Amino acid sequence: MPAPASSPGSSPDPAAALARDPNALGARLREVSQEAAARPGDVRVVHAPGRVNLIGEHTDYNEGFVLPVAIDLGIAIALVPTDDRRVEMTLAATGETLGFDLDAIGAKRGAWIDYVAGTAWALAERGVETHGFRGVLASDLPQGSGLSSSAALELASSLALSGGEVPALDRMTLALTAQRAENGYVGVNCGLMDQFASAFGKAGHALLLDCRSLDHRAIPMADPDLALVACHSGSPRKLESSAYNERRSQCEAAVAEIARTDQGVTFLRDVTPEMLEAARPRLDPVVFARAEHIVHENARVLAAVAAFEADDLETMGRLFYASHASMRDLFGISSPELDALVEIAAGVPGVIGARLTGAGFGGCTINLVRRAAVPALREAVMRDYPGRTGLTPRVFEVAASDGARRIA
Ligand code: GLA
Repeated sequence: MPAPASSPGSSPDPAAALARDPNALGARLREVSQEAAARPGDVRVVHAPGRVNLIGEHTDYNEGFVLPVAIDLGIAIALVPTDDRRVEMTLAATGETLGFDLDAIGAKRGAWIDYVAGTAWALAERGVETHGFRGVLASDLPQGSGLSSSAALELASSLALSGGEVPALDRMTLALTAQRAENGYVGVNCGLMDQFASAFGKAGHALLLDCRSLDHRAIPMADPDLALVACHSGSPRKLESSAYNERRSQCEAAVAEIARTDQGVTFLRDVTPEMLEAARPRLDPVVFARAEHIVHENARVLAAVAAFEADDLETMGRLFYASHASMRDLFGISSPELDALVEIAAGVPGVIGARLTGAGFGGCTINLVRRAAVPALREAVMRDYPGRTGLTPRVFEVAASDGARRIA
């Protein structure tokens, strides 16, 4: 979404390298900002990660369960705080500078700065004090990859707007405030998963979130022989926001119908497989299929956590493939490209499981892979995928990483 970015797995991009080099990003800021050049000692650098989701897709806005992992790719902002209530930020990749006044944020403009302005708007709505700054933004999240550049930008912005520190909010309120920016200002009706992952990321851990109670738990991913590999389909996510909103309304339609006979039902989280089956004759077949995905996907998240904790990789793999099939056949958010990536991965010995990750309609798959098999997966995808789709894929390992923080 917002920031033009580099591409792990392809030629090195100097702007993306800046996202991993706080000193160089600070130096870039001193080149573009007189304030930073005049007060180099006041320059800070903040970072917020993107995410992959291991399992639990489109369950967040149904008050269900998700299991994301914050990754070692994200958005960094070097900034110098100012006391003029003005925010101005330059993209390292293009040199484009956009800005706004904190006291007159105005409506969204249809540009990447909306995520920063929306975050300022949502922080103000919560009564959190914000500060002006001059900043430079660098991202190493591949563009259009569905690895949550929006949430990373919202989280990084919330720190930048707080003088380079984590705002005086607990992390869950911070995640909710970032989600509010996206729902209420940018106008995307997303759930909480991405902002939660970017706020709560923990190196070496996946993150289980109950999207109803907001209880959460970090699940260790300690096995050094396991790798997480993202495969980017190279196809931009098409129709994403209209199709996303359509899926949400279909889930709501299922709830409305089921609640006519089962009054305790307020979200698909409350629906058991038996309740859903009983409602089948009354539901439109497409609405039934959407609900069927959510009801079983919630159960798969809990089963995946149990399998992970029992080191039962075979079950984990089965759950990954079942989740993908459900997104393809029932929820209707896969694509021929994502299906091809999953099929190719499934044929590589040592790949434990593969599924699309994120909203769908393009973007990436996530693969749980024995470390020794990573080169074979890369080779198979690079060899077979272009012929099947006419597109160039990217294959890159990701590591579970810490959440939004000041890094310099
Ligand atoms: C996007 C949204 C999330 C979630 C996923 C699908 O990433 O931002 O809230 O709904 O899609 O699981």
